[in-house]
Amino acid sequence: MSGAVTEVARFDPAGGGLRGTLRVPADKSISHRAALLGAMSSGPVRVRNYLHAADTDSTLAAVQALGARVERGDGELTIHGVGLRGPREPEGPIDVGNAGTLMRLLSGWLAVQPGRSWTLDGDDSIRRRPVDRVAVPLREMGARINAREERFPPFTVHGAELRGIEYAMPVASAQVKSCVLFAGLGATSPTTVVEPAASRDHTERMLARAGAPIERDGLRVTVSPVEELHLDAVDVPGDLSSAAFFVAAALLVPGSRIVLEDVNVNWTRTGFLRIAERMGARIGGKLEPHGAFAPVEPVTALTVEHGPLVGTTVEPDEVPLAIDELPLVALLGCFAEGETVVRGAGELRVKESDRIETVVTGLRALGAEIEGTDDGFVVHGRGSGALRGGRIASHGDHRLAMLGAVAGLASREGVEVEGMDAAAVSYPGFVTDLRRLAS
Ligand code: S3P
Repeated sequence: MSGAVTEVARFDPAGGGLRGTLRVPADKSISHRAALLGAMSSGPVRVRNYLHAADTDSTLAAVQALGARVERGDGELTIHGVGLRGPREPEGPIDVGNAGTLMRLLSGWLAVQPGRSWTLDGDDSIRRRPVDRVAVPLREMGARINAREERFPPFTVHGAELRGIEYAMPVASAQVKSCVLFAGLGATSPTTVVEPAASRDHTERMLARAGAPIERDGLRVTVSPVEELHLDAVDVPGDLSSAAFFVAAALLVPGSRIVLEDVNVNWTRTGFLRIAERMGARIGGKLEPHGAFAPVEPVTALTVEHGPLVGTTVEPDEVPLAIDELPLVALLGCFAEGETVVRGAGELRVKESDRIETVVTGLRALGAEIEGTDDGFVVHGRGSGALRGGRIASHGDHRLAMLGAVAGLASREGVEVEGMDAAAVSYPGFVTDLRRLAS
């Protein structure tokens, strides 16, 4: 269950800027949830525009291992679920691949199946990602979980009759919140999760659509036990986290003007756009207002053009709303005038790589002035032409690979990305799309 990532790709300065229109791949977070809630549902669930990438393929394989049937049609999938109480125990471990979201969300559903158990494992990167953050609340609800060194995969979830709890999460994490809510669906009493700051709410929206009794009150969300879920169809919008690489490229490369169609702009995901706007970016498109909660995910076309940037400070409350885009904030910071600071983002250390370490060493190797801190980084921006270029390693982390590619287009001398194939975890056609807009 390990994958050596070796492809080297070169990205030269994009002389004429990025131009054109692009539809980015489907949202990874929403695709994972559609497959899982599809498997948990009682009737068939049609999923249009499901993401076909390594991470979400792992989720389809996992739900099939649990007994769900996946029918592939033209541009859509139909998932015939096993119902909330129906996951079966396959022979061997469930392979979650590189997908932290799958690993954590699935644990919640499995934990509430009395008398059955499952072992979850994945690639080398997943084996470094902590599961104690979900084991702690699940144990409090009554589940038994055995993990390597108490906190790493492979780990075994022994399902049990669970009781509802009120869980105050120590760190804002949509994965942990979703895991506890999934477990709460089958518990004997209501379950409340209290977040320290808002995180992405795709689970809550989809659960509401599936008929689950779910209530929100500020940072508190409560789910009550339910017999069955009924989710008719899900349309997966474009992934803002994938679009963000093109937003950054267009902002940084002189002469750029692009349109990104059908991008999900759920306000719990658009923190990066707000940070970029504060840095001076001109981004067109109708974003969902802060605090909104609609069962259907909002989409818009984003227009982005090149322009000068200034440094900014990203505060802890903003971090969960831009968590996967913070490496791009570091890159924008290199090209901004003044200092860019990110605080309260210690979570970056437990992503697909230690993203404080890998971003800081990676961008430094390209000529950036950036320092890591315990919970973020400080970038000393040098305005346009800031990055010389060179070589950056992805460390098998898809977002690092794509960061390196964008840095190459914006650099003076070009960038070689070691391990570009990692992009396939969320965006298999990334290099083709980037080269098309940059040609
Ligand atoms: C995700 C939540 C985030 C994010 C990850 C996807 C999700 O993780 O970094 O890429 O789909 O719930 P945390 O919730 O653990 O911060």
